Amino acid sequence: KQPLILAGKTVTITAGPTREALDPVRFISNHSSGKMGYALANAALQLGAKVNLISGPVSIQPPSNAKLFHVESALEMHQSALKLATESDIFIGCAAVADYRSADLQTQKIKKQGDEMTLTLVKNPDIIADVAGLSHSRPFTVGFAAETQNVADYARKKLINKKLDMICANDVSNQAIGFNSDHNALTVFWSNGQQDLGLHSKEALSLSIMNLISSRLKG
Ligand code: PMT
Repeated sequence: KQPLILAGKTVTITAGPTREALDPVRFISNHSSGKMGYALANAALQLGAKVNLISGPVSIQPPSNAKLFHVESALEMHQSALKLATESDIFIGCAAVADYRSADLQTQKIKKQGDEMTLTLVKNPDIIADVAGLSHSRPFTVGFAAETQNVADYARKKLINKKLDMICANDVSNQAIGFNSDHNALTVFWSNGQQDLGLHSKEALSLSIMNLISSRLKG
């Protein structure tokens, strides 16, 4: 049994991938399973928080005590996140949000064309940066950085550019951790510190992250 260090706090977490439709039958997405975000939701619940879980399409079971918000696209996740963020004490962006969507969503199935075809994509809003940029009722904002190289360097840049309070970096080039695995290895960065949480189950790492957030909140 965990001490209820997050009692009275509302935590909003994004999890899973987003799906960017190209036409009625096709989409662009990624390999996020939702395991990391759902484990964070479970950890926050165990520590006594009220949890909003904004989830992209995944096939795992959500924690029964979280308030679940199903979304598909980055635009839908953005809308849901900004609505819930201002009533949250802590916001964690664990979702693997597509950076781009189709510029020209087709209402009919795209027909096969010549040997090559070009898709034009436009940038999606940066959800976590918009949450961190709120001028009123801004929650303590925690991002993730999924990198395949220069992990610490890129993570620190995201912490600064997105104006986050904390960022959890994972190396997603290693298939034993990160996307879809039951385990992960994380290093957490904040403005004047960092902590290597090591390689553990996503459940164990989630409890460490929530404890770290709680102590940074108090500080
Ligand atoms: O779901 P699993 O299979 O368990 O895998 C877990 C995970 C690898 C997906 C997770 O640990 C992880 O790293 N999540 C972040 C994935 C990601 O999109 O990282 P990024 O470095 O591209 O984005 C940086 C941050 O900006 C993230 O907090 C992301 O949620 C956020 N973002 C990105 C783009 C965008 N348009 N809006 C955002 O909010």
